[in-house]
Amino acid sequence: MSGCEEYTLITDPESLFKINHPELPLSYYTGVLGMAGLTAYAGFFDVSKPKQGDYVFISSASGAVGQLVGQLAKITGCYVVGSVGSDEKFTPAIE
Ligand SMILES: NC(=O)c1ccc[n+]([C@@H]2O[C@H](COP(=O)([O-])OP(=O)(O)OC[C@H]3O[C@@H](n4cnc5c(N)ncnc54)[C@H](OP(=O)(O)O)[C@@H]3O)[C@@H](O)[C@H]2O)c1
Repeated sequence: MSGCEEYTLITDPESLFKINHPELPLSYYTGVLGMAGLTAYAGFFDVSKPKQGDYVFISSASGAVGQLVGQLAKITGCYVVGSVGSDEKFTPAIE
């Protein structure tokens, strides 16, 4: 929840959590194992409750959250369609 900066003032230390898998690159905690990953996981599995074979449409599929939802949907066995703002943002994993 802090910025990408050399020093951060943490005013609510209870919001911090222990890194349980130090063998993984720390950068993962800014993406798939961080806020974006939690948002994608909770939004997809807890809110959407997808089933194998469901059709899933992801707007802004190239965004931090959208690109994770696309991968979660694929491994769940869904048919996935994503929209992005330009051809350069097309990701073959979400075809
Ligand atoms: N990241 C988090 O931890 C987090 C946590 C909670 C909630 N959220 C929410 O989840 C959503 C996505 O977040 P994100 O972190 O994935 O953002 P992001 O990486 O900045 O991606 C957002 C995407 O939205 C699209 N977009 C931007 N302006 C647009 C516009 N005017 N019309 C249509 N599309 C537009 C862009 O895709 P294209 O250029 O391909 O169109 C961009 O890639 C946001 O609403 C955010 O508030 C994110």
